[in-house]
Amino acid sequence: MRLFLDTANVADIREAVSWGVISGVTTNPTLVAKEGRDFHEVIREIAGLVSGPVSAEVIAQDADGMVAEAKVLAGLAPNVVVKVPITRAGLQATKTLAELGIAVNMTLVFSVPQVLLAARAGAAFVSPFVGRVDDVGEDGMAVVRDAVSIITHYGLGTQVIAASIRHPAHVVAAAKAGAHIATVPFKVLEQMLHHPLTDIGIERFLADWQQAGQKGR
Ligand code: G3P
Repeated sequence: MRLFLDTANVADIREAVSWGVISGVTTNPTLVAKEGRDFHEVIREIAGLVSGPVSAEVIAQDADGMVAEAKVLAGLAPNVVVKVPITRAGLQATKTLAELGIAVNMTLVFSVPQVLLAARAGAAFVSPFVGRVDDVGEDGMAVVRDAVSIITHYGLGTQVIAASIRHPAHVVAAAKAGAHIATVPFKVLEQMLHHPLTDIGIERFLADWQQAGQKGR
């Protein structure tokens, strides 16, 4: 399973990229708005920091408007993927964009039927929102599991991005469910890294080393 960073914060992206663990970035209008920067400028900058896909979302609600926005976004950098919400217009736009060779990440997906529609319309990626499904008392990871199993069974080309990830256990569950990608906030990436026993272990090794009078290289 590949890891994407779910943020529009360039400093966090730089840091995560330096760890060598990030294969792409996903953004949404909320995440971009939080940065207070020009949308196109920030997407262009992010696309230059990572070699993998960078998702940028359309705002239009009609298919023609979505396609027009998508063309502009896809023109910002070769690795930009256009995020389109799963609505009637979103499916129509996805079909058109797939025919034009523009990769779509179908977003705001909360159910398995929606996953199947997204895949059939030609979405390159589909993003079930695990945390938000959990928030309404349902099993978000079950959507990911079923999505992967159906897509694999029928040999559909769509990749499943486990999105709305809230904690490291979600990441592990997404990997076990066979998700192609999990997109994680930077905070979750840090939580994945840290373990108190690692910190204690480093402290103890250093103390023992110094006590024995050893010198570093
Ligand atoms: O970017 C889509 C998704 O990951 C949003 O997550 O935490 O706002 O539900 P969240």
